[in-house]
Amino acid sequence: MKTLNVGMLGCGFMGRTHSNAYNQVAHFFPDLPFKPVLKCCYGRPEDLETLKKFRQAWGYEEIETDWHKLIARSDIDIVDVVAPNFLHKEMVIEAANAGKMIICEKPFAMSVAEAEEMVEAVEKAGVANMVSFCYRRNPAVSLFKQVVDEGRIGRPFHYRALYLQDYTISQKVPAGGASLWRLDAKVAGSGVTGDLLAHSIDAAEWINGPIKRVCAKTEIFIKERKNAETGEMVPITIDDACMFLAVFENGSIGTFESSRYARGRKNFQTMELNGEKGAVYFNLEEPEYIQFFRYADPSGQKIEDHLTGWQKILVTNSEHPYMSHYWVPGTMIGYEHYFINQLADFLAGISGGPECHPDVHDALRVQKVCDAVIRSAKEEKWIEI
Ligand SMILES: NC(=O)c1ccc[n+]([C@@H]2O[C@H](COP(=O)([O-])OP(=O)(O)OC[C@H]3O[C@@H](n4cnc5c(N)ncnc54)[C@H](O)[C@@H]3O)[C@@H](O)[C@H]2O)c1
Repeated sequence: MKTLNVGMLGCGFMGRTHSNAYNQVAHFFPDLPFKPVLKCCYGRPEDLETLKKFRQAWGYEEIETDWHKLIARSDIDIVDVVAPNFLHKEMVIEAANAGKMIICEKPFAMSVAEAEEMVEAVEKAGVANMVSFCYRRNPAVSLFKQVVDEGRIGRPFHYRALYLQDYTISQKVPAGGASLWRLDAKVAGSGVTGDLLAHSIDAAEWINGPIKRVCAKTEIFIKERKNAETGEMVPITIDDACMFLAVFENGSIGTFESSRYARGRKNFQTMELNGEKGAVYFNLEEPEYIQFFRYADPSGQKIEDHLTGWQKILVTNSEHPYMSHYWVPGTMIGYEHYFINQLADFLAGISGGPECHPDVHDALRVQKVCDAVIRSAKEEKWIEI
């Protein structure tokens, strides 16, 4: 078994999910010829206490408060970028130039121009890479795609996606600072479009093919907030909510909606595809199910009318994606397993298995759609991708 030394660039929420995946992957995917080693984690000097606790909790050998030094180390094999969005470009390019394998959180970049530079550096270096659109690795979402790929939906007509949260409704929520960098355009790039809809767009293009054109409306409901660090009122320029219409290259049409003002919704994510022969629906609040409506078989043979209806499929059988690696049929896995599954796919890819996606090219596609959505909202017109 070959060891793979990990350098983790960030020690927040995603730092935790990725560290857990490195610690767990060999337990559930013992045939992979790699053993990840949590070598070193980075945090800012002002986050030193958090960084020390993070190291302790997840078992890193060392800590570093200068990420350039971490990337430059000759004993680091994988650089894992889990820092706020504005740092992704610099970190990815520097890691590629140092010849490291790269795993990067979404949104890949702050703009298409940034993403193109990053793809160029990664291509030039020829290093293995993956972008963490982790929801693809929920077994139910993978089964959703499998059902579509098997021709069970037939000609697709409608794709429908929601991604809703409610944590910024109060005027008292500050902008900027360590935890609310998502409300600061300079750090996050965009609001719900890059943060939430990027996931929905990635899933949509993976399942239903490329989006050709979009028409969007965004809104900023609270236009000024107190900056968490300076205490001054600052204008809010990121999109609090975004809705867009999409035309797919396969002729189907889609609607996408995202908000951080959807009272009652915490991390509510749904997707539905309606086609000629059937339909599929997924809801992240029931993460181990898909709902499937069978109208006709892939051959065109129509189901008898009295037997048509929505089937709720519990995605825990060994035959379902990823599930043979876990417990026994009928037992559940959780959010953290999406990260274990994606890491297993990445490690399989670098050991001669199927090429791992989403890679930086797939992420550039998502960035193109995100940028077009923001531009469409600004210019109030349809934008071609
Ligand atoms: N795949 C997913 O579902 C998912 C979920 C959440 C976040 N993310 C992405 O992961 C990345 C990290 O998000 P998170 O939720 O872990 O954030 P977080 O705020 O929990 O952690 C960010 C880390 O970066 C540090 N940090 C903050 N500001 C910094 C700065 N200016 N310079 C250097 N370091 C700084 C923080 O101290 C912390 O260690 C983001 O790109 C985010 O979009 C992806």
